[in-house]
Amino acid sequence: MTEHLSQKIFPTTQLEDADGEGHNSSINPTMGEIIGKRFSRRNFLQGSLAVSAIAATVSPVALMTAEKARATGVSAFSFSEIEAGVDANHHVAEGYSADVLLRWGDAIFPDSPAFDPTRQTAAAQARQFGYNNDYVGYIPLEGSAEHGLLVVNHEYTNPHLMFPGLVTIADGKIKQGPLSKEQVDIEMAAHGGTIVEIRKVDGKWRVVPEGRYNRRITSATEMQLTGPVAGNDRVKTSADPTGTRVIGTLNNCAGGVTPWGTYIMAEENFHGYFSGELPAGHKEAANYKRYGVPEGGYEWANFYDRYDLAKEPNEPNRFGWIVEVDAMDPASTPKKRTALGRTKHEGAESIVAENGKVVFYLGDDERFDYVYKFVTDGTYNADDRAANLNLLDAGTLYVAKFEEDGSMQWLPLVHGQGPLTAENGFASQADVLIETRRAGDLLGATKMDRPEDVQPNGVNGKVYVMLTNNTRRKAEQVDAANPRAENAFGHIIEITEDGGDFTATSGKWEVLLKCGDPSVAAVGATFSTETTKNGWFGMPDNCAVDSAGRLWVATDGNNNKATGRTDGLWAVDTEGDARATSKLFFRVPVGAEMCGPLFTPDDETAFVAVQHPGDGGDDWEGHGRPSYYEDLSTRWPDFKDNMPVRPAVLAITKIGGGKIAV
Ligand code: FEO
Ligand code: CA
Ligand code: CA
Repeated sequence: MTEHLSQKIFPTTQLEDADGEGHNSSINPTMGEIIGKRFSRRNFLQGSLAVSAIAATVSPVALMTAEKARATGVSAFSFSEIEAGVDANHHVAEGYSADVLLRWGDAIFPDSPAFDPTRQTAAAQARQFGYNNDYVGYIPLEGSAEHGLLVVNHEYTNPHLMFPGLVTIADGKIKQGPLSKEQVDIEMAAHGGTIVEIRKVDGKWRVVPEGRYNRRITSATEMQLTGPVAGNDRVKTSADPTGTRVIGTLNNCAGGVTPWGTYIMAEENFHGYFSGELPAGHKEAANYKRYGVPEGGYEWANFYDRYDLAKEPNEPNRFGWIVEVDAMDPASTPKKRTALGRTKHEGAESIVAENGKVVFYLGDDERFDYVYKFVTDGTYNADDRAANLNLLDAGTLYVAKFEEDGSMQWLPLVHGQGPLTAENGFASQADVLIETRRAGDLLGATKMDRPEDVQPNGVNGKVYVMLTNNTRRKAEQVDAANPRAENAFGHIIEITEDGGDFTATSGKWEVLLKCGDPSVAAVGATFSTETTKNGWFGMPDNCAVDSAGRLWVATDGNNNKATGRTDGLWAVDTEGDARATSKLFFRVPVGAEMCGPLFTPDDETAFVAVQHPGDGGDDWEGHGRPSYYEDLSTRWPDFKDNMPVRPAVLAITKIGGGKIAV
């Protein structure tokens, strides 16, 4: 990981980069330990796998696009790419417009107070757009691609960028905080998610504050635990003796929109919010160690006992879940769907398989952790939305084992099967799910280089796995699916499920792309020779597939002196001779990472989320200066002296209208 200088200067809240060696000390082999022959394996197994019928709707136009690429070797993307670089603003390809739609503090209700950064309150923040937008989803209203609900996760907070007066410099030393209770409450209100109606008018997207579905979800919103873990003793607390009612959601990173139109918020780095020590000899000690609990980066335990392990030792078991929100019912209680396991969930993108079951792909974002998928027991009913609303409470969770020969297995995490028995401390399926990682350890899952988004592609039948980086992988830990030691730039794996069936328990895989600067031989990047000096990237994190089946990759971590470029959104060819060609479409301002991205169903808008702009110490002049409220590296997107930098969601459209890429 390209370390953000802010992590050395300010107490870090960007938890995913602060986990050192990871927390997987299991002995299940990295495949490198059984290979020795890894260098003989081709990085690109030649595409021998015919794509079978897939259930997702495939438009004839989309198929033609893919076919054209296969036949001609010409990139499926015709836009003129922008130059990589670093400055205070964002940049999009010529002929496109990137318009700010929602900034931190913006109104999402008619009565939302105007954003005043010098007079912030938790009550105001709870009625305004939250901080550090990450996942962006779109739920059409009446099937429209120009009128719908935008759902956005707010992953974490950056107090040094948010609060005036919090950072002081004396005698050349920088000090932050401590935070007041009101500031902690503001942080809690700035977390969670936003559901807001949006409409495209005269080619430009507008927020509809009066929208009847508009809603803020925060770290103070009551949630329900459902599925096998609900009511288990290990999730009972003094505030919730039933083990079914949880206050809040934490660190909602990526997510998804289900085929039945609910909003998924993945709880990722929940460990950072907990402080204190477990009572001596407590039975959860080993469990928490596997998840890095407590990390203590946040100060919430100073004011709320539930974040203090000494006072509420079971509370961390109530986080790390996939949360499902019925966006069409603003009064609904969000549900933590425990059947999908407890990890540092990056996201949960889904697809309806040919047999009607729904498959969710899940990355556990930590060094040396695993890729999962969940297959519902029930089948999707396109004619009856209500019939789908509890599909996520019953199904099978699988963990991925990538074999050295390019095959793979999805291993079921089912109580009583294999090692997942009482002898190994699993009394029930609830135990398997609470300790999902340990269950994966015992099954011999493959330790990956930080699995981020995992995206099924309904057009070509593949599944793309973003593996962001892992500089801690040693040479002896290298394996075919994680082929580089000290993997600073990450890679992308392409999975083809056997029989083209997303519910299959076996498949094939290959490395689509090893990332990094291809002009530096030692990096070992595998972009096509058509890729320009602007077109390469490192640290793939989020991704999207447009309706033509083309892959767009957003990055997290290029923003530093070494790469001379910010994060951004790159278009990546996956078909034909153009495969592994990448082009830079959009780049973020200094300090930010690129989240979202998401295409509307008509492909005429790409929503992107600019997260933590102005963070970090590497400005574009290479001075390594700290950036904080009083001395920001950028005041994007307002560029006003009285306005701090603000994370924001942008809507990218083609000037004059039409599809983003044809
Ligand atoms: Fe929050 Fe793994 O990105
Ligand atoms: Ca991410
Ligand atoms: Ca990230």
